Amino acid sequence: MSFFDKEIDRRGTHCEKWDKYKDTDVIPAWVADMDFSSPIPVINALRQRVEHGIFGYTGMDDDTNEAVIDFIKRHHNWEIKKEWIVWMTGVIPGINLACRMISDNSEVITTTPIYPHFVTATKNTNKILTQVPMKEINNRWSIDFEEFESKISPTCKLFLLCNPYNPGGTVFTKAELEKLCEICTKYDLIICSDEIHADLVINPKTKHIPIASLDDDYAQNIITLMAPSKTFNIAGLQSSFAIIPNKKLRLAFKKELRGMGENINVLAISATKAAYTQSDEWLRKLKKYLLENFKLVKEFIDKNRDLQMLSSDATFLAWIDCQALHVANPYELFLEYGVGLNDGKRFGDKNFVRLNFATTRKNLEEILRRMQKAIDSLEN
Ligand SMILES: Cc1ncc(COP(=O)(O)O)c(C=O)c1O
Repeated sequence: MSFFDKEIDRRGTHCEKWDKYKDTDVIPAWVADMDFSSPIPVINALRQRVEHGIFGYTGMDDDTNEAVIDFIKRHHNWEIKKEWIVWMTGVIPGINLACRMISDNSEVITTTPIYPHFVTATKNTNKILTQVPMKEINNRWSIDFEEFESKISPTCKLFLLCNPYNPGGTVFTKAELEKLCEICTKYDLIICSDEIHADLVINPKTKHIPIASLDDDYAQNIITLMAPSKTFNIAGLQSSFAIIPNKKLRLAFKKELRGMGENINVLAISATKAAYTQSDEWLRKLKKYLLENFKLVKEFIDKNRDLQMLSSDATFLAWIDCQALHVANPYELFLEYGVGLNDGKRFGDKNFVRLNFATTRKNLEEILRRMQKAIDSLEN
């Protein structure tokens, strides 16, 4: 039995994912965390820290910064400097801070469909939002660069990029990232690149490239957001960081952060360090397990001709086109049959659902069985 086959009851543990459907027979497969235990070294580090018994104000230490620097070098071949790192309590705050940095009523450009907090961040901060539809190019979600460029207005100041792409699982290529940098430089846009899914590239033939690692000049206009939270299933600990090589940009970002949570909590520090220094083997096995789960989802889609899914290289999320089912609300259909997916409407397309497949194989099989029943019910 694999480590990831272990069934752990998450109900009643302040778990957003499972508690949404508590006291029902619905299996949750929505919000993006995993039903797997974190790596043992992370749990041991937390245990050790808890046993110390004092949980006062925190300060970041060099060892944890070094752990981040080494991990990013080892996994993403990007050499960053300690002073570029800005710790914060979440990537969502990071997206909001990037939007706050630019003047009121200026424009932000992003793609659609997209992780919903990209849109809400622009609303929270009184920005005008332009969205460029993602296009199917060679059976994969990508950006139509001509359209992207044509939609940049003179008041546009910021591009919010999601790489790897949630919800569609695209890992953008070097050529695509270079093109985006070229366009953003031409129009003097800051790029805020949300790379929270960077470590979860499950297709072994593909590699994540941090956009700021391409070129030192381009990097001067880039804010990269990363975290151990998705990778090691520690989202509830709230540890994340921005990487900002340009001092002026970094100070502007830090100014917005001031007084709003500059220090991550004491348990988050211990978990982050253990995750980045002692959990590579766990991560390798996790990606293997996720790939097998993805294959199961893919088989299920392939045998149901009314469902479509483009190829996806990263994340544990499947973005499923249900248009050919001809139902008013696919999310409601699957819910009726006991599966709680994400409604694609929140991401910008009501014809889609998003399935979180980071769960035990047994649970995933039951999810797919129920989804099959829902589809079969339409034919009767
Ligand atoms: C693209 C993306 N960004 C950010 C987040 C959330 O980040 P955090 O929990 O660190 O605020 C998620 C979670 O699903 C995500 O998919």
